[in-house]
Amino acid sequence: KEAVQKTEILGAQPDGIARAARLLAAGKLVAMPTETVYGLAGDARDPDAVAAIFAAKGRPSFNPLIVHLASLAAAEHLALLPDTARLLAQAFWPGALTLVAPLRAGHGLAPAVTAGLPTVALRVPAHPVAQALLSEFGGPVAAPSANPSGRISPTTPAHVLSGLAGRIAAVLDGGTCAVGVESTIIGFEAGQPVLLREGGISREDIAQVCTLSPARPAPQNITAPGQLASHYAPRAQVRLNISAPMDDEIWIGFGPDCENAPLTLSATGDLTEAAARLFAVLHDADSLGRPIAVAPVPEQGLGAAINDRLRRAAAPGRSDATHGNSGLQSP
Ligand code: TXA
Ligand code: MG
Repeated sequence: KEAVQKTEILGAQPDGIARAARLLAAGKLVAMPTETVYGLAGDARDPDAVAAIFAAKGRPSFNPLIVHLASLAAAEHLALLPDTARLLAQAFWPGALTLVAPLRAGHGLAPAVTAGLPTVALRVPAHPVAQALLSEFGGPVAAPSANPSGRISPTTPAHVLSGLAGRIAAVLDGGTCAVGVESTIIGFEAGQPVLLREGGISREDIAQVCTLSPARPAPQNITAPGQLASHYAPRAQVRLNISAPMDDEIWIGFGPDCENAPLTLSATGDLTEAAARLFAVLHDADSLGRPIAVAPVPEQGLGAAINDRLRRAAAPGRSDATHGNSGLQSP
């Protein structure tokens, strides 16, 4: 039902950023670099643009989007931030943190952005190109990760094009994403912070600012952040915590014990490097068309987010209705 369109590739110079802002203002979709992953950006106030985001990704309409803003002040206009949310924003914005808070009356967002929930997910990204685009556009930008729903998230313009070329107006080329896993999502229950998704800001970093309440089981009726059983799914079968792969498997290593692995998250065992490389390595491994075996990754720091994404990549049931019908294509 969506018309095929030419996808422009825009450079991250002032003219490219200005062009991207004009496309957003015209209700078009632009893949925007952030420090976590590329986002599929559209005007969060425009119901048609928001509908186009869901259509381009093949995303279920019950799964709400993150709204990206240039500043904490802009976030305060849209939502009622609990005190702890403000402390977290002051500590980690701009950056890889998303806060979920109650909507303010008169927020002006298209209802589909929040999937009808009374709360909204907000983030102020740190990537200078995202900052420049958000400032130039001057309004709230809805942006889920710029991949077909259920597929591996994009950390380069090539990843975006492999999944969404012909379905979006442009990709703004901000290079390779430095963090490489999506933002940490924190919500609030009775004012107490709850971790909804592991991500680019570690639990240990969060603990410097506030005490997280224990995570409760994800609700069954709404889609909590990235909590669909299978997500980030390569086409190939994925096995985890493998120190001795089988002959037909592509082994993805971590650390110096895996020097024979053809692909590695980090040869030195650096979790920051491993997070930055995770999705690119999964894209590469998947393009080889063989089953994938991944070495153990420690659960500390960014390892928690890496292991979360790996568990979803390994989860069975990728062919269910929550996934777009377009498979990951080789870059
Ligand atoms: O780093 C990131 O967070 C990237 C970049 C582009 O900002 N975005 C991203 O978006 O990962 P997405 O759509 O792939 O994941 C957003 C998650 C979803 O799992 C959604 O369920 C959750 O945020 N979410 C959005 N609004 C919510 C709300 N009101 N309550 C609970 N969860 C919400
Ligand atoms: Mg996503």
